[in-house]
Amino acid sequence: MRTFLTIYVLVIAVTVSILGFRGTLTEKEPFEVFSDMDRQAKYKPQAENGFYLNGQNDRLPPKMTMSRGNALEMKEVFATDYTANSAAKELLLSGKDADGEFSDVFPYPVDFKLMQYGKESYNIYCMTCHGAAGDGNGVTKPYGILATSYHDDRLRDAPDGYIYDVITNGKGLMYGLKDRLSNKQRWGIVLYLRALQRSQSASLETLSTTEKSELGL
Ligand code: HEC
Repeated sequence: MRTFLTIYVLVIAVTVSILGFRGTLTEKEPFEVFSDMDRQAKYKPQAENGFYLNGQNDRLPPKMTMSRGNALEMKEVFATDYTANSAAKELLLSGKDADGEFSDVFPYPVDFKLMQYGKESYNIYCMTCHGAAGDGNGVTKPYGILATSYHDDRLRDAPDGYIYDVITNGKGLMYGLKDRLSNKQRWGIVLYLRALQRSQSASLETLSTTEKSELGL
């Protein structure tokens, strides 16, 4: 019993002396059993460095590399016309017009290049769940979670800004993708999504005479 008590008291004393002082400030060097990577030679941001010609540590990103997030838009933020164009910017960033309503104005010139960019991005970021044709036939279907099909009137009639907002901030079970896709990429996807919708609901009247004759109609 005595041995047990001695060990018991010792364990409590050791535990309190090690854990009891957590959070206490001290000027002394901490005692490190495993130093891990706490101390290491490294370059600190905005410090001098004699190695590089310009004497700075900070490097510009190497050419042909991708930056994460919206760094690509940073140069626009510092552009002189940024505030002057704020309504247009607001539309580009949030898909909303000056009254805060989702807008049907597309903020980029529509061309084949943007469509290609949207298709590429769609196939990487959306197709897994929504399916190549946008009918919701993706990996979540067998689990009973249907990634919405784009082919109903509600989404056909929804403004472009709304679709952009779903991609940006997510909706219901779907997470937003603003940290992974630049604004232009998201708008490109909106464009491609419209093409997918069209592909499943085109009417004869919208075809040109040449297209009709190609189809033998
Ligand atoms: C991880 C799976 C997943 C990915 C990836 C995904 N979605 Fe979704 N999406 C869903 C689910 C699930 C819903 C249904 C959400 C709900 O209503 O709860 C949905 C809903 C939607 C809707 C309908 C919103 C509404 O009003 O009903 C749109 C539009 C949409 N997604 C577009 C996209 C686009 C574009 C991408 C690619 C940038 C994308 N989604 C990526 C799973 C996904």
